[in-house]
Amino acid sequence: MPPYQLKAQIIRAETLAPDLYRLTFLAPDLAAEAKPGQFVMLRVGEGADPLLRRPFSIHQVTASGWVQVLIKVVGKGTRLLATLALGQTVDVVGPLGNRFSLHTSHHICLVGGGVGIAPLYFLARELQRSNPPAAVVPLLGARTAAELRPLADDFVALGLTPRLATDDGTLGHHGLVIAHLSELMATPAPWIVYCCGPYPMMRAVAKICREQGWACQVSLETMMACGLAACLGCAVPAADLAGPYKHVCKDGPVFGAEEVAWL
Ligand SMILES: Cc1cc2nc3c(=O)[nH]c(=O)nc-3n(C[C@H](O)[C@H](O)[C@H](O)COP(=O)(O)OP(=O)(O)OC[C@H]3O[C@@H](n4cnc5c(N)ncnc54)[C@H](O)[C@@H]3O)c2cc1C
Ligand code: FES
Repeated sequence: MPPYQLKAQIIRAETLAPDLYRLTFLAPDLAAEAKPGQFVMLRVGEGADPLLRRPFSIHQVTASGWVQVLIKVVGKGTRLLATLALGQTVDVVGPLGNRFSLHTSHHICLVGGGVGIAPLYFLARELQRSNPPAAVVPLLGARTAAELRPLADDFVALGLTPRLATDDGTLGHHGLVIAHLSELMATPAPWIVYCCGPYPMMRAVAKICREQGWACQVSLETMMACGLAACLGCAVPAADLAGPYKHVCKDGPVFGAEEVAWL
């Protein structure tokens, strides 16, 4: 059983914005097993540099066996992955890690920043299937309109109405996406919040949720050497600092916000 390792054929390679790419590859077994929140490790090129695979959230899967990831170029590995083209193959291991737990609440909020939006799209589709009466409210932020618009459009295509924010004010609220959380505080019902993005954003969301008494799940990103619970390089301190560390690849990447020591 999973994780699978395969050389998957690339069936679509899209440039969504400068330094933001979407790669679609064919991996039917992996697609059938994948759950929202899980990730894959992609091998970067054929050579020894960079040696280590890189982790990416599963952005979307289809019944026909397609798997999609979003890739933001930040260094050598992601730059090499961004050059992959239609018909080439990519060496994949996955699905890895745990998943977001699905709630039956009717008030669900997704807070995503940058490529942290990737797993939330998969989650939104799964929530629509498993919990159709729920009001799913996506709050999405990025640096610029160019980065945010293609990701937000996917949520609109699901029939959702994302509330947007950009660092430069070119789309939606000018500033941090968490500003939109205060609009939800005006509603009496408790919200279930799912969050993925830069660490300071998740820490701020976790704090608001704790104060409001809302349940919150976060998907953490750390450097990962193996992704398979072998190197212990992905440790994060648990909320009870006297307790053990958590390992993002094995215990996560999804955690209850209360499980994390927000430093
Ligand atoms: C569970 C998980 C899911 C992820 N999902 C996605 C995704 O959907 N899309 C996406 O674009 N990226 C995602 N990432 C981050 C991605 O794995 C890194 O950006 C990538 O490994 C960087 O490789 P590189 O060789 O290009 O950069 P490197 O040369 O290794 O590093 C370049 C810079 O980025 C920093 N960096 C590298 N990895 C991380 C990391 N994990 N967290 C924070 N900073 C980092 C380094 O400190 C350095 O400053 C995810 C990470 C994890 C752990
Ligand atoms: S990345 Fe090696 S143990 Fe988690």
